[in-house]
Amino acid sequence: MRTPFPWRLVKFASAAALLVLPLLVLLGSRTQSEKPALPSPLSPEDYRLISPRSYRLLLDQPHACRDRSPALLLLVPVAPRDAAARRAVRATWGSSGGDTLTLFFTGVRPGEDWGSLLQEESRQHEDIIQMDFVDSYHNLTVKTLMMMSWVASHCPNASYAMKVDADIFVNIFYLLELLGSYPRRGFITGSVITDGRPRRDPNSKWFLSEEQYPDDAFPPYVSGAGYVFSADLAQRISGVSRYVRAIPMEDVYVGLCLRLLGVRPVYSQRLLGLRNLFEIRKLEYDRCSFARRVIVNGFEPTELQEVWKDFSTGFTHTLRL
Ligand SMILES: *[C@@H]1O[C@H](CO)[C@@H](O)[C@H](O)[C@H]1NC(C)=O
Ligand SMILES: *[C@@H]1O[C@H](CO)[C@@H](O)[C@H](O)[C@H]1NC(C)=O
Repeated sequence: MRTPFPWRLVKFASAAALLVLPLLVLLGSRTQSEKPALPSPLSPEDYRLISPRSYRLLLDQPHACRDRSPALLLLVPVAPRDAAARRAVRATWGSSGGDTLTLFFTGVRPGEDWGSLLQEESRQHEDIIQMDFVDSYHNLTVKTLMMMSWVASHCPNASYAMKVDADIFVNIFYLLELLGSYPRRGFITGSVITDGRPRRDPNSKWFLSEEQYPDDAFPPYVSGAGYVFSADLAQRISGVSRYVRAIPMEDVYVGLCLRLLGVRPVYSQRLLGLRNLFEIRKLEYDRCSFARRVIVNGFEPTELQEVWKDFSTGFTHTLRL
């Protein structure tokens, strides 16, 4: 009996498999590194801690984006008592108008009664959003998720958002110029940290137990002092947060969400990496060197206003702000 035919088929099949297999492996590993499979969702108790739905809005600005689509939302986390910092931000880079809109996000401090003062300030400036969670360093992750969820539901037509601390100098002129070159979706930039690791020393401010965070490295993330992102990420980060357990470092937390979304933070630098545009150190004021940075860290309210007086004179004629 002669059986040449099946043999040929087998040969053909194995050759085809040899050709196709590496391709499949390549594709498989590719999609995997871009977007890992979702882990199982958090338990209801774990999710309740971080979900903005668990908290009540005490102050809101539901119409802040009505009839307008800001190019850039400036989202500033503050403590209720930071009135001086808010004043400085409003008088400098956060002054409203043009293409930007500045909003302050806060919680409550037990034992401190800022209620009526905040209400008055909020009525006057219409820029404060407050929820009834305890406003503490360890709850910054809750505050960030509150911002993301607020943007997603109240300002879906904004193009970009920036989460930025109140003690930061923001070169809003340069940033608005840069926005033109940023991707419209799935984009986040700042000072990217790629070699972050959890601190296992219980005395560290950034201590994380193995129970809280078992891995021994962080995914790439942008330093929390100031980062800029396409507004679509607000919705996507809110959505994926039900799979990511809270850790008290909000910037690492956002990095964990980004990893699940398959979004890689982009480092903002010029001159082949010599100049970090999102400067997380404090630098001595110098108009020329500040002109080519997006943020510089570490300003007291009065200092910020002083510096701004000099810095903005060169720009007010050319930009509508
Ligand atoms: C975070 O906020 C929640 C809700 O207000 C509160 O129960 C919890 O104690 C806060 N956690 C910290 C570490 O401040
Ligand atoms: C967003 O833009 C769309 C289309 O331009 C518009 O129909 C919608 O009302 C806008 N939404 C808000 C909240 O402004």
